[in-house]
Amino acid sequence: MLSSLGDKMSNILAFVSIKGGVGKTTLALETASSLVNDFGKKVLLVDANFSAPNIGLYLDLTNEVTLHDALSGTLLHNAIYESHGIDVVPASMYYRGEVNVFKLKQILNKFKNRYDFIIIDSSPNYEELKPVIAAADKIFVVTSPDNVTLTTSLKAARLAREQDTPIGGIVVNRIRSPRHEYNLNEIEIISEIPVVARIRDHKKMAQALNDKTPMTVLDGANVVSREVRRFASAICGNPEKENFFQKIIPFKDSFQKERVNREFLRQGFYESQI
Ligand SMILES: Nc1ncnc2c1ncn2[C@@H]1O[C@H](COP(=O)(O)OP(=O)(O)OP(=O)(O)O)[C@@H](O)[C@H]1O
Ligand SMILES: [Mg+2]
Repeated sequence: MLSSLGDKMSNILAFVSIKGGVGKTTLALETASSLVNDFGKKVLLVDANFSAPNIGLYLDLTNEVTLHDALSGTLLHNAIYESHGIDVVPASMYYRGEVNVFKLKQILNKFKNRYDFIIIDSSPNYEELKPVIAAADKIFVVTSPDNVTLTTSLKAARLAREQDTPIGGIVVNRIRSPRHEYNLNEIEIISEIPVVARIRDHKKMAQALNDKTPMTVLDGANVVSREVRRFASAICGNPEKENFFQKIIPFKDSFQKERVNREFLRQGFYESQI
């Protein structure tokens, strides 16, 4: 486990999109939960949606001290709350003072060597996204597989390129009707970014939200949890187990393509440790 290494290098990963409701918070939370609960990693989950933060609501956290306080001088340590094994920094929905959002990078860098991963949830607002991309070592673009969402989501990828922040891949979320939506190849051709996870729209996500519990904790066998786990395994350099369909239809291109993309992500993990 990484945390046993003396001079640990931790990765700051941000889930971004310039479109609301695509699943940034869900993916940030589920990935953090899987890294902690499936792979034993130490994770700090940070709500950097400065104007409309959600993570506190997703996990039913009291948020007396928040990221906003940390950005205005309070020690970040005081804004960390534990939930389902994850260390969480919520943000304030009603903060009145001015905060310097560009201090985010400096604050998180101080915590890098205490965590295997720092995961940042972000706002769809272009201006609020800039400090998040500046603070991140790598971003993942979250989109759903339709023209409108993909086009808008990719604005975030452009911003990352402008800021020289590496893009780890695209997470396609809320897949509803594959026959009428972009497939993996189309998304990769349009975006020129590898697809590293494809997550179905699943009605049980409503239960996870209502129970204030990540799906990866609520039901590890759920199809969403399984895909999140495969994605998280690539992030933390663990080998991926073949699923049933990959065993019986090994030639199915899109399954293989996605696995190959994750293999690159996994390799990137090892390279970042050198
Ligand atoms: N794979 C999924 N299946 C079903 N529902 C989902 C899935 N992913 C996310 N949702 C639901 O979609 C809604 C929006 O998700 P989420 O809050 O993660 O989006 P967001 O991108 O963070 O939105 P915002 O831009 O407002 O912060 C939530 O109700 C969430 O439970
Ligand atoms: Mg959100």
